[in-house]
Amino acid sequence: MYKLLVRPILFRLSADYAHELAVKTATNYSKRDLFLRAAGTVYSYSNPKLSQNIWGLNFRNPVGLAAGFDKNCTMAPLMENLGFGFVEIGSVTAIPSTGNPKPRSFRLPADQSLINRLGLNNDGAQTISRRLKKLNLNIPVGVNIAKTHNPDIYGDKALEDYQTSFNLVKDIADYITLNISCPNTAEGKTFEDPDVLDSLLNTLELNKDSSLPPVLVKFSVDLDENRLSELISVCESHAISGYVATNTSSNRDNLKTSTSKISSIGRGGLSGKAIQNKSTEIIRQIYKKTKGEKTIIGVGGISSGMDAIDKIKAGADLVQIYTSMVYEGPSIVKRINKEIADYLLVHDLDNIYQIRKKASQEKVNSEYEN
Ligand SMILES: Cc1cc2nc3c(=O)[nH]c(=O)nc-3n(C[C@H](O)[C@H](O)[C@H](O)COP(=O)(O)O)c2cc1C
Repeated sequence: MYKLLVRPILFRLSADYAHELAVKTATNYSKRDLFLRAAGTVYSYSNPKLSQNIWGLNFRNPVGLAAGFDKNCTMAPLMENLGFGFVEIGSVTAIPSTGNPKPRSFRLPADQSLINRLGLNNDGAQTISRRLKKLNLNIPVGVNIAKTHNPDIYGDKALEDYQTSFNLVKDIADYITLNISCPNTAEGKTFEDPDVLDSLLNTLELNKDSSLPPVLVKFSVDLDENRLSELISVCESHAISGYVATNTSSNRDNLKTSTSKISSIGRGGLSGKAIQNKSTEIIRQIYKKTKGEKTIIGVGGISSGMDAIDKIKAGADLVQIYTSMVYEGPSIVKRINKEIADYLLVHDLDNIYQIRKKASQEKVNSEYEN
C-alpha cells in the first residue's frame, strides 16, 4: 500500500516537504488511541525468539528507530505501534534550533539513499525531556544528544552545552547516545578528536555516577581504522556501555546517481544502501577491538532481515533503520523482524545471540580447514 499509493505521492513533493508532512501526520496520529491500536494490529509482529534483555531492559525485538526521525519525541507512541523494538529520539541539543536553511534533504532513488543536512533542528533538551517524561511506552526509549549547532559554542562552553542536555535527560532516558558524528554543523565533528572526546567523557563523569543509564557513543561511517581504534580506547577508559555504528557519510564514492546531481545537492550526510557495507565494517572493527564485550547498535543501509543479520554477524546486538522507512514505508519493521525470525527457524537457532555465535564458529571452522 505504501509503495503503491503513498510513496508515489510523497516522492512528487520535495524531500523536505514530504518529511514535514510525514512528521506532522505521525505526530497527530501518535495522540489518537484508536489509530494507535489499529496500527498495532496491522504492523506489530511478535516472536519471543526475537527478544533480548540488554542492560536490564527488555527489547521485544532488535529493530529500532534510528535517531533523526523522531527528533522531538512526538512520534514515539506511533513507532511503538509500528512494531519497533526500541526508539532513539533526538538528536537533542541544549538550545533549540531550526537547523540549516532548506533545501536540506534529498532523495537518491538509484542508490536507495538520502543526503541530508538538516543541521540538528530540534525543540531543545528542556522541552523534549518534558515530553519524554509524560510518555508511557512498553519499549525502551534512548535519547541521542549532540552539541548545540552554533560555532560560537566551543571549548569549555561546548562541554557545558553537552552537560546541560545530559543532565536534563539522564533520569528519564533508558539509554543515552552521545552523537559525536553529525556531519551537518558549521563547526564540524569536533568531538571525533580523541583528546576532545576524553574531555567530554571526563566532564560527564561517567565513572563516578553508578546511577546513570547506559551511555553509548555514535561514530561516523567515515572513520579510518586508526582513528576509530583511538576513539574506542578513549571510550573504554570511561564507563561507556556501547556504541552506535554508524552515522551518515560525507563521501560520495561509487554512487549510481549522476555526478551532476550529486554536485548540485552539495554537502550533507549520505545514508541508506550507499553506506551499508562500510557501516558493517565499522561494526566488525568495534566488535574486535572491544572483544565483543560491549553492546553495539548497528545502523546504516538496513532494508531487509538479511541486512540486519549481516550486522548482527559483524557484532551488532540491536539494529536501527531510517532511510529504508522512507523508501519502503512502515511495514518494513514487521518484514525485517519476520525475516530474522524465519532465519532463526530455518537455522534451528533459539535467539539473536546464536546468530553471531554460529557465524563465528563457521569462520573458525573454515580457517581451520584452510
Ligand atoms: C534525515 C536524517 C536525519 C538524521 N538526523 C540524525 C540526528 O539528528 N542524529 C543522529 O545521531 N543521526 C541522525 N541521522 C542518522 C541516522 O540515525 C542513521 O545513523 C543513518 O541515517 C544511517 O542509517 P540508515 O541508512 O538506516 O538511514 C539522520 C539521518 C537522516 C537520513
